[in-house]
Amino acid sequence: MPARLALKFFWGLDAAAYQKFLAQAFAGIPKNFSGRLLEVPVGTGVLSLPVYQKLNGAEIFCVDYSDKMLDAAKVRASQMNLRNVKFLQGDVANLPFEDNFFDAVLSVNGFHAFRDKEAAWAETYRVLRRGGIFCGCMYVKGENRRTDIFVKKFCEPQRFFSPPYETLNTLKKILSERFARAEVTHLESFAGFVCTK
Ligand SMILES: C[S@@+](CC[C@H](N)C(=O)[O-])C[C@H]1O[C@@H](n2cnc3c(N)ncnc32)[C@H](O)[C@@H]1O
Repeated sequence: MPARLALKFFWGLDAAAYQKFLAQAFAGIPKNFSGRLLEVPVGTGVLSLPVYQKLNGAEIFCVDYSDKMLDAAKVRASQMNLRNVKFLQGDVANLPFEDNFFDAVLSVNGFHAFRDKEAAWAETYRVLRRGGIFCGCMYVKGENRRTDIFVKKFCEPQRFFSPPYETLNTLKKILSERFARAEVTHLESFAGFVCTK
């Protein structure tokens, strides 16, 4: 099935909604951001590297567990001539950075994939400075029945996704208990979040 049709059929997103999904995922990164940014997981960088092309003043660290994904991201970054982005193999559950190191932490489609979600929440919080931004997006269950079935029958067996999943309400609770400010939006089964520590 072509990607466009799969996006509509399984995720409920047509082309216009997909643009909104992207805007939601990166809503927390200011256009003129110039601090230290952590992205975890970067995957192949297909979504985030185009955003980084406009953040020349930022120092960006991209982490992923998979060397294969990182290799693809590095090739993409070099083709795009991105010089302010570093790539590191690592586990979100044990990030190789000091406390309060980052001005922003971005996680796009990460938390539904991470196995140790408690450690991932704790580590992404630990490395973020007070007043810093935690943002991104993730799958939440209970918003679209067809998506929920697709996740269970396809994404889980392929190990792309790892249960348990949050709902919109449990995500709001987790974030508002941890952060000074937390805003959660959603588009079909994707929740976007923008939080301030
Ligand atoms: C669906 S991809 C998302 C990547 C990218 N943000 C995107 O939206 O295109 C999920 C990624 O999470 C990575 N991953 C899974 N568990 C991880 C962990 N514990 N630490 C770091 N990365 C992890 C996988 O290697 C994979 O590249």
